[in-house]
Amino acid sequence: MFTLTSLPEDILILILEPLGIHELDALSLTCRTFNTIVNAYGWTNYLRINPRPSYSLAKARNVWSPRKRARYDGLADEAWTRAEFIARPLSRAWAAKLQPVLAISPSRLLVGAGSSISSYTFGAPKPGPCAPPVVFQGTVSLLEHPDRARDITAISMVTDDDVTVIVDVAFHDGAIERVRLFPAGDPPVLSFTRTKLPPMPNADFVENISTDANTMLTLSSNGLARLSPIITATADTPTPPTSLIDLQTRSWTSLLSLQSTPYAAFGTASSTPLTVHALDDGGALSPAPTAILHTKRAAADRLPSSAVYGLARAPPCSPWGASPQILVSGWYDGQVRCYDLRSSSRFSSNTPHTTNGALNGPTHTTTTPLLRPVLTLADRWSYEPIYSLSTGGGSGSHIAAGTARHSVVSFWDARSPSTGWSVHAPGNDPSPVYAVALESARFFGVTQSRVFVYDFGPGVSLERETYPALPLVRGVDGLKQRKGANRATYHVLRYAHDSSGLCGESLV
Ligand SMILES: *[C@@H]1O[C@H](CO)[C@@H](O)[C@H](O)[C@H]1NC(C)=O
Repeated sequence: MFTLTSLPEDILILILEPLGIHELDALSLTCRTFNTIVNAYGWTNYLRINPRPSYSLAKARNVWSPRKRARYDGLADEAWTRAEFIARPLSRAWAAKLQPVLAISPSRLLVGAGSSISSYTFGAPKPGPCAPPVVFQGTVSLLEHPDRARDITAISMVTDDDVTVIVDVAFHDGAIERVRLFPAGDPPVLSFTRTKLPPMPNADFVENISTDANTMLTLSSNGLARLSPIITATADTPTPPTSLIDLQTRSWTSLLSLQSTPYAAFGTASSTPLTVHALDDGGALSPAPTAILHTKRAAADRLPSSAVYGLARAPPCSPWGASPQILVSGWYDGQVRCYDLRSSSRFSSNTPHTTNGALNGPTHTTTTPLLRPVLTLADRWSYEPIYSLSTGGGSGSHIAAGTARHSVVSFWDARSPSTGWSVHAPGNDPSPVYAVALESARFFGVTQSRVFVYDFGPGVSLERETYPALPLVRGVDGLKQRKGANRATYHVLRYAHDSSGLCGESLV
């Protein structure tokens, strides 16, 4: 008699491919053959088809079984669909209003605030059903003279071997330093050594650093963009730039992408606030834009002046696929615009328009193609500028945007753009959300007052100290902690973008 299990094993493995977590669980209970096949292939296949990249969970995922990883992802995805999460500040409020920056690796989250860097390390999970911990490691001050403030404007990780992290740190005074952070002493405290790196020309300060595949793109506030190799072996040796161009305008953000068709995207304040510059075969940046990314409505020959402050790649499971040619951008007008750089819906105009371009020349005219967005997202209750962007989250399809006011972060599922929602950070500061880092189950953000996390994963525990303990007093730093069983979470205000726009608390 023919039975399903008499099919060859590779056919059975193919049959498992479209199955979700509940189906795999059920199937593994039906008979010994399927139990073996699900455990040998089912879970790993599921994880391959449903990638959920994350930094803070990387250590835990290395020791978790494929089934445990899949279950964690499934529970986190479900929490995202219900917009349910634990909200926690990771630090006390800073004494002054700061403009912090974030950098993240599989070992840690670094927060540059004022002249200090704080390190939060990502731990391996303790036994039991609890979430992998985030541990405050310490703070170092990079002041040179106690009475001369020097704010950090950008940090970028060079290497991180879990014990020692090497970061390039840029300061408002124009200095760039390579800083090595490591624990030293008994008990160990966070310590550092540093070396000076060559500054940008004209004493211009670094606004943004973007890296990909051992190449670093450094962008100064006045629009100098410098491409240089990251030399990690001799991490203290400065490296000669391979390419330098001048965007000739106030510049805010950049994104370097070296896969398939290499390019750098630049967000500036100008009449062409978002441009793409291709890299040639020798790895040099094109001085003039190779594409201008545009808003939908504006006529091709009238480019309104605007600004782009945040850029990100497509979410890993976006409707357009995870192509590096998908660019997500956050604009001054509060809109998040997604572009497909492969798109044929360019409206190439015959009308020449001015662009800012070549290194020495003044602005010149060109007929660079204009590209329209393939998707535009907005919080219809807020037209505050978008300051920061990151992608990932539930089902690997979310976009997170930090806005300019009221510490609001907006979330959209790129597969269903009208069902977005927004949430105020713990403490409800009247502050921008200056930087954000989204991974599968966790979102890290930073306001002028503090760094905070939203955790959509299961097993967040106060007793097991998933997150650093803060004083357990209501009203500390203007924060409100929940009581009773929900006291792992702090009060935050949340609202949907749909017509109801109802405000609610985070439900846990
Ligand atoms: C540079 O801009 C990108 C895109 O907006 C952002 O992801 C990154 O964190 C920024 N880097 C720094 C060092 O601020």
